[in-house]
Amino acid sequence: MSKIVQQDILQQLQQLQRVAQTALAQANTTEATREWYSEYLSRKGRLTSILRNLGSLSAEERPLVGKVANEVKAVLENALQERQTSIAQAELEAVRRAESVDVTLPGRPQNLGKLHITTRVLRDIYAIFTAMGFQIYDSPEVETDEYNFQLLNIPPGHPARDMWDTFYTTTPGLILRTHTSPGQIHAMREYAPEPIRVILPGKCYRYEAVDASHESMFYQVEGLAIGKHITFSDLKGVLINFANQMYGEGRKARFRKSYFPFTEPSVEMDIECVLCGGKGCPVCKYSGWLEMLGAGMVHPRVLQNGGYDPTEFSGFAFGMGPDRIALQKYGIDDIRYFFTNDARLFERV
Ligand code: DAH
Repeated sequence: MSKIVQQDILQQLQQLQRVAQTALAQANTTEATREWYSEYLSRKGRLTSILRNLGSLSAEERPLVGKVANEVKAVLENALQERQTSIAQAELEAVRRAESVDVTLPGRPQNLGKLHITTRVLRDIYAIFTAMGFQIYDSPEVETDEYNFQLLNIPPGHPARDMWDTFYTTTPGLILRTHTSPGQIHAMREYAPEPIRVILPGKCYRYEAVDASHESMFYQVEGLAIGKHITFSDLKGVLINFANQMYGEGRKARFRKSYFPFTEPSVEMDIECVLCGGKGCPVCKYSGWLEMLGAGMVHPRVLQNGGYDPTEFSGFAFGMGPDRIALQKYGIDDIRYFFTNDARLFERV
């Protein structure tokens, strides 16, 4: 009877070893091996519960069973340790793979910001004129009717007012300037009777039907030179020099007679089309020329309004649109792109 019990226990131990080994092979995580330990080897585990029957064995039978039990225990403990080591290695490897960096991959391009095209053209203009001795003069965007029109020889009811339809503020007589020309009066009144050489950049506003070439807000750069003995040749020399630097040496320019109330005589300056080189294309409307700026000799009445004696002083003035220059220079066909914040525009330049 007692023999059968011994056999029984030995069999149970062997079976336990097999079952435990199979279960261990299926434990794939550290957590699972802990559960396995508590099921098979802990004090409340299956090995201990088999050994509880040791008491029913005779004193001679016990040592063999005890030995086998110790062997099973040792085998299982070794197996557990091996399993835990290999799981820990696998887990580490997984982490390493997930967090690894492939240093041979090409870098991801970072899109750097760029200056707005108009800003770049403005800076080019500043550089060219300051090198010729012009200073940059800031003047207000909100003006009175007097400065924007009257002091520039455009009295109320003058037909030339049709060229500059403006925005009115709720304060009577205060308007958003339609051009940078009123800045001429501010500069003259500040410096007269000293000679002046200034450019006046800034935003202007017009009540426009917005289309590909017209915006209700745009930039202008005004220029003004006043002194004794300033002639039309000075105007031409300065502006041709400017065009050569802005568009490249040797590009043809031409002056056409024109009309502005604040200059006499008045001209417009054209530049050979920068895109087709004068052959004719959609940008220059097949004329071969692009309008560049308006200019002229400062009208005696405007000189007087600025505080200069027109019998003693003379001067020239000009006004150009840097947005338009940017459109021409970079072959962009719609001024509205400048304000839509689509960065693809800047990939072109
Ligand atoms: N103020 C003019 C405009 O907005 C441009 C202009 C023309 C400015 C001739 C000048 C000038 O100083 O002399 O259309």
